[in-house]
Amino acid sequence: MLKDKRIVLGVCGGIAAYKAADLVSKLQQAGALVDVILTERATEFVTPLTFAALSHRRVYANLWEPSGEAAARHIELGQSADLLLVAPATANTLARLAQGMADDMLTAVALACPAPLLLAPAMESHMYAHAATQANLRTLVERGATIVPPETGHLASGEVGVGRFPETATLLAYVRRVLGRGGDLAGRRVVVTAGGTQEPLDPVRYIGNRSSGLMGFALAEEARDRGAEVLLIAGATTATEPEPVGIELRRVGTTLELRAAVRAAVREAVVGVDALVMAAAVADYRVEQPAAQKIKKGSAAENADGSLTLRLVTNPDILAELATDERAAGVVRVGFAAETTEVAKNAASKLERKQLDLLVANDVAKAGSGFGTETNEVAIFHRDGRVEQLALLPKAEVAAAIWDRVVPLLRARETRP
Ligand SMILES: Cc1cc2nc3c(=O)[nH]c(=O)nc-3n(C[C@H](O)[C@H](O)[C@H](O)COP(=O)(O)O)c2cc1C
Repeated sequence: MLKDKRIVLGVCGGIAAYKAADLVSKLQQAGALVDVILTERATEFVTPLTFAALSHRRVYANLWEPSGEAAARHIELGQSADLLLVAPATANTLARLAQGMADDMLTAVALACPAPLLLAPAMESHMYAHAATQANLRTLVERGATIVPPETGHLASGEVGVGRFPETATLLAYVRRVLGRGGDLAGRRVVVTAGGTQEPLDPVRYIGNRSSGLMGFALAEEARDRGAEVLLIAGATTATEPEPVGIELRRVGTTLELRAAVRAAVREAVVGVDALVMAAAVADYRVEQPAAQKIKKGSAAENADGSLTLRLVTNPDILAELATDERAAGVVRVGFAAETTEVAKNAASKLERKQLDLLVANDVAKAGSGFGTETNEVAIFHRDGRVEQLALLPKAEVAAAIWDRVVPLLRARETRP
């Protein structure tokens, strides 16, 4: 989604200016056209050459440069931008932006720029907490700017406090979210489940599965980047993803907890849910009676021959239950099937039994597909019997393909009499 997006990145004269180099590199790799503007003070910390090399584009640092190019381009740069990102934003530049000043290239471009403004303030914690800085931030937010909240941690001053420049991944997530506001899921509320459920045996042990959560997180992030309001209900995830940005995250443990969270979200929502995508790996069975204390060798729980018998009972089928639930009617429902044999046959029967709109099936026994991998090779089963086999793709692209198929279903529901 960043491909060919025009991003003007203002880099201010703060100690975190060097970290903006990584941000430019990642934006450029994602296909964005990044025009970097350094404030005069930023050039005391970093050089234009670094940013020109990373962005593959000309860098601006001086509105009054003798060639006249910066002066000639500053209005057009602002007018043609899809996003104005200021990262790091110093206290000083926040003040100038809040006042509508235009005494350098960055602030002049900002005044000419109708695109969304995304600010990543980074500074020493007292400067950040100061009433003047906070008032300037409020003014900018009231005017429509989005703030990436600075993180808490070690600051260049040697103190620990709020004011740290966020990780590149966090900044990229904000960029995607702000750029996606007008996307094809704008105004939609979607629920995505991710990860695996864990069924306790006792307070220490559980029966789990190999779900990494990557597919569900990718689906949630893609929906956010298309403008949706997203609730992500996640079980255990083995992937160490950063907390998703701009997504409501609810953690659950067992299948019964997942079911309660999904039901609450879908059936009791004040604002109706438009789509539910269940990418979580849900345990079909749970231990009927988990032990209250840790099961010990030689304890009364053992059989006479030293073996241990666990009785498993069937867990409810969350999607099948919703199929007959009036309060979930109208919600586009997408299920996942992780199979190791007879993928097509099992997928088709699951789609029918659970009355799904789409079923995404993957053969988890295949290399590069399924649990823990960054890629997935899936087949999408439609209600009308169509089956689409997708190539082996990064999970983000699989997520995009799934939403591409959900969007027309959402539109079709609206036009139905
Ligand atoms: C070593 C050093 C580090 C600084 N780090 C920051 C910072 O992290 N955040 C900030 O708001 N100001 C910081 N400043 C102060 C700014 O450089 C100063 O306010 C400057 O006028 C900012 O100009 P600009 O906003 O046009 O880039 C720092 C100053 C120095 C000397």
